[in-house]
Amino acid sequence: MLCDLVCFMPKLTVRDLQVRGKRIFVRVDYNVPMEEKDGQMVINDITRIKETIPTLDSLIQNGAKIILAAHLGRPKGQREASMSLRPVAHKLADMLVRPVAFVDDCIGEKVEKTVSVMQPGDVLLLENLRYYNEEEANDPAFAEKLAKVADLYVNDAFGAAHRAHASTAGVPRVVAKRGGQCAAGFLMERELKFLGDELESPARPFVVILGGAKVSDKIKVIDRLLDKAETILIGGAMAYTFKLALGHKTGKSLVERDRVDLAKAVLLPTDNIIATPVDTGKLNKKGKPVFDLQNPRVNSAPDIPDDAEGFDIGPETARRYAEVVRSAKTILWNGPMGMFEDKRFADGTNTIAKAVVEATEKNGAKSIIGGGDSVKALNNAGLGDRVTFMSTGGGASLEFLEGAELPGVAALTDK
Ligand code: 3PG
Ligand code: MG
Repeated sequence: MLCDLVCFMPKLTVRDLQVRGKRIFVRVDYNVPMEEKDGQMVINDITRIKETIPTLDSLIQNGAKIILAAHLGRPKGQREASMSLRPVAHKLADMLVRPVAFVDDCIGEKVEKTVSVMQPGDVLLLENLRYYNEEEANDPAFAEKLAKVADLYVNDAFGAAHRAHASTAGVPRVVAKRGGQCAAGFLMERELKFLGDELESPARPFVVILGGAKVSDKIKVIDRLLDKAETILIGGAMAYTFKLALGHKTGKSLVERDRVDLAKAVLLPTDNIIATPVDTGKLNKKGKPVFDLQNPRVNSAPDIPDDAEGFDIGPETARRYAEVVRSAKTILWNGPMGMFEDKRFADGTNTIAKAVVEATEKNGAKSIIGGGDSVKALNNAGLGDRVTFMSTGGGASLEFLEGAELPGVAALTDK
């Protein structure tokens, strides 16, 4: 297959597997945001769990023994209690309306014993894979240990598919070597369809909205989309790097000075919401100085004053961008327009979010939201269920849009 954006070799999916009575090792991305409340870890957003339910339902109905493996946070080989997946097992049981067993390890005798008494349709969640350093190191011996309970392998962890770890690359290799099949789950399949195939020959105009802090994170995506999209709208802090490229003063705004020669055929903000950061003398949890963002105001001048910093696109830019978005037939959005977590700097992102929904509902546009903060922004605005597709991947969706082959996908059996 020849394709110039993202090429996806067809892989087996759960539809292709004969799962009855078999042990299916299912890698999921249950790396969900959690928070401690009254000494308990509480899940803040269940999207990643919810999106795996179709795969799990199908496996249950077809009589598979389902062994779920996942990571949570970055415990770096330590048994961090706050990063246990146990609360996820409880939540999943609620959502499936059936018991979900939990073992406080992901390898070893306890796991093997539990699996040995599983019945068709039973579901087991293993403890955090990253309690072992061997997971991220893609250690072959560790992959063999994980694969001890696997007849077949399913990857539904799109959000972790850009990682070549034991559970995403090592285990499928072991299973395949034994002649077992490795397939994509329905969530994985949907992600690859919307972020890949759907953008291959998009209905036009195709408008790309890119925001977020760093140009360096997105430059390969911009590169790939430059001759694919009619318009690329740039917001977020990365806009200031581009402005610097055009010779404007950007005050204290976050810029990447070594990146200023890049990308020209894009729209940039003509006004911004700026504020003056004043050092409070305090440090945050990470030991970084805390700034009070004073005097938020619209700046329509090409330059940002020396003492100020940009935190959102301005009203004129938001209006101009929204107009472009409303006329689109295909929209890809990755990265917020400003620091939307602070209400004073959320208008730009919210205006774009509303325009994306309008294009979807009134113009029949396909709107694809590329994961991470843009998904959070849409959900914050209460508009999450009014777009065509929201990715569950952050880094994974970016790497996929860059055209990178994802190790977690590459490891699956070709059709
Ligand atoms: C994510 O949340 O981005 C994925 O679960 C991958 O996690 P990681 O960035 O810690 O590898
Ligand atoms: Mg990440």
